[in-house]
Amino acid sequence: MIDLPRIYDPRGNLTFVQNGDGRLPFEIERVYWTYDVPAGEKRGGHAHHQGREVLIAISGSFAVNLFDGRVWTTFRLNRPYQGLYVPPGYWRTLDDFSTGSVCMVLTSTPYSEADYIRDFDTFMSR
Ligand code: TYD
Repeated sequence: MIDLPRIYDPRGNLTFVQNGDGRLPFEIERVYWTYDVPAGEKRGGHAHHQGREVLIAISGSFAVNLFDGRVWTTFRLNRPYQGLYVPPGYWRTLDDFSTGSVCMVLTSTPYSEADYIRDFDTFMSR
């Protein structure tokens, strides 16, 4: 888990991240976010060959389940000032989304389908 800066303010708090500040283990190349996830739905279900990611619960909460090929570990993300670093080579699923939750993902690479492993058996047989 990566702690991000928090600027407390009676008008509302603020968190930021920027390249070169030493907090992320990569330079940000792309940002995407998922939202309006229906109750009970799952996202993810893949691994990356190269892409590194940091997941942040910008709003609400959800669970990130990581599998390194041997052990599953579940992280509950619910703080907009914390990011979960997911190195390449980890199978991940996201579930248990709260209503209105938003998952923002900072990534090290441009989008490329060739960087995805979307078949679990292929992941296990690497
Ligand atoms: P997908 O990887 O299945 O979403 P997730 O695993 O996060 O639940 O992506 C859904 C679709 O969106 C798929 O067709 C690929 C496309 N997509 C892009 O075009 N650009 C992107 O940056 C991302 C993350 C996905």
